[in-house]
Amino acid sequence: MEQRELYLTKHFEEIDSTNEYALRNLKTLPDRQVIISDVQTNGKGRMNRAWISDKKGNVYLSIVLKPCDKVNRELPLSEITQYMSVIVCKTLETYGAEAKIKWSNDVLVGGRKIAGILSQASVRGDKFNGLVVGVGINLNLSEQDVGGISQPATALNLIIGAPVDRDTFIKSLLDRFFESYDAFLTTGFPLIKEYYVSRNCFLNKIITLKTYNLSESVTALKMRDDGALIVIDDNMQEKVVTAGEIVPEIGEIWI
Ligand code: BTN
Repeated sequence: MEQRELYLTKHFEEIDSTNEYALRNLKTLPDRQVIISDVQTNGKGRMNRAWISDKKGNVYLSIVLKPCDKVNRELPLSEITQYMSVIVCKTLETYGAEAKIKWSNDVLVGGRKIAGILSQASVRGDKFNGLVVGVGINLNLSEQDVGGISQPATALNLIIGAPVDRDTFIKSLLDRFFESYDAFLTTGFPLIKEYYVSRNCFLNKIITLKTYNLSESVTALKMRDDGALIVIDDNMQEKVVTAGEIVPEIGEIWI
């Protein structure tokens, strides 16, 4: 019997941003279409930051997830992003890199950021058109390149001391993502909770949490079953945090 492809890929040599391309063309792109580019001229990061994307040999890709009974406006973007962070970690581990997750979805090796994920929903009025999950992973950069990034950063080639074949890495990442994607849609965060917690680098630590324009120092306590972070503030009040990011203090390395 012929096996159905788990996903489709579309390659560009150069594009502004794979996420922006996917969002612009969401109507005509099919479910599970992956957009890959060798470089991006306007790579987007979270919190309106830029994602430096001018060096070939790295991962710049976006996955289109079209609406279905499980992919709808109820599906929290943070959960699918956390799912992707686990997939990135597992793929990095097959190369011998010890990857850690910094809530909610940054992937670090040796305390330095190696991958970032930007998930975006397309909603027009009442209509939910789908999701775009964008991933950037540093596979092949020089010490000088990573030194020019605004936060402590690294790349897989620097960790393992050898160049990394981008296409092999991408195939391994996408196969892994789609092999358990249906199970993830059915089960949600509990499917990955144990692994996610086992690779965290923030629980039981005092962290600076940035939500919208507010920065607050809190203690990260535990993960809830929906992927939210439970923290304790200065007044010993427990709080549930569903959006935001942990901001490193200047020069801070997350081990
Ligand atoms: C972050 O700030 O940590 C998220 C970075 C996400 C970067 C990726 S690269 C591929 C995709 N296209 C973009 O413009 N951004 C995402």
